Amino acid sequence: MIIAVDGPTASGKGTIAKALAAHFDLPHLDTGLLYRAVGRQVVLNGGNPDRSEDALAATDFADALLADPELRNEATGSLASRVSIHPLVRKALFDRQRAFALQEGGAVLDGRDIGTVIAPDAEAKLYVTASVEVRAKRRCTEMQESGRDVSLEAMMDDLAARDERDTNRADAPLMVAPDAILIDTTSLNKEAAIAAAIAAVENALHG
Ligand code: DC
Repeated sequence: MIIAVDGPTASGKGTIAKALAAHFDLPHLDTGLLYRAVGRQVVLNGGNPDRSEDALAATDFADALLADPELRNEATGSLASRVSIHPLVRKALFDRQRAFALQEGGAVLDGRDIGTVIAPDAEAKLYVTASVEVRAKRRCTEMQESGRDVSLEAMMDDLAARDERDTNRADAPLMVAPDAILIDTTSLNKEAAIAAAIAAVENALHG
């Protein structure tokens, strides 16, 4: 069984995907991390994330980079969004994601294009969203917990810019798959969001 979880940054999709993987005993891939690794590698190479050639060269990052804490910060999230618009980068990362989705027993993947491009054949597709303000507040709280301070306004601007880039790029834009179930976490706490997601998957599987 493949479960596809898509949605914008800080919508709760990562938390939901992890919880679904634990509940249904499936392996989980956070595909955003792959784009973040490319964004980070471009910088390490001294390249320009907006140049397709530089971004493509960074797709052969070493797997050890996936454990780099720098991948989790907002600056790397922004770089990831910039490198992700290049079709050659998306193509280079496709096989790895597709193979993960097709492994025996199934998998949970979260990202932007899982239900539309990576696994259009997924048995259950969720699109997780929330208002920009709530997402920015969540991200600010996370950053504060890890000792970094960011203003809510700056975070809202950053998320809005990222949404705009992810939604309007030509190749595999962030969009709701026609057969996806929408989960709006704006007024849900973590437990309620997870419960709604489990119920949605059960419903997609058993009707
Ligand atoms: O989910 P995230 O914030 O870690 O993703 C970082 C960026 O990576 C996001 O702004 C766009 C890109 N991305 C993508 O284009 N396709 C995916 N499947 C996952 C992430």
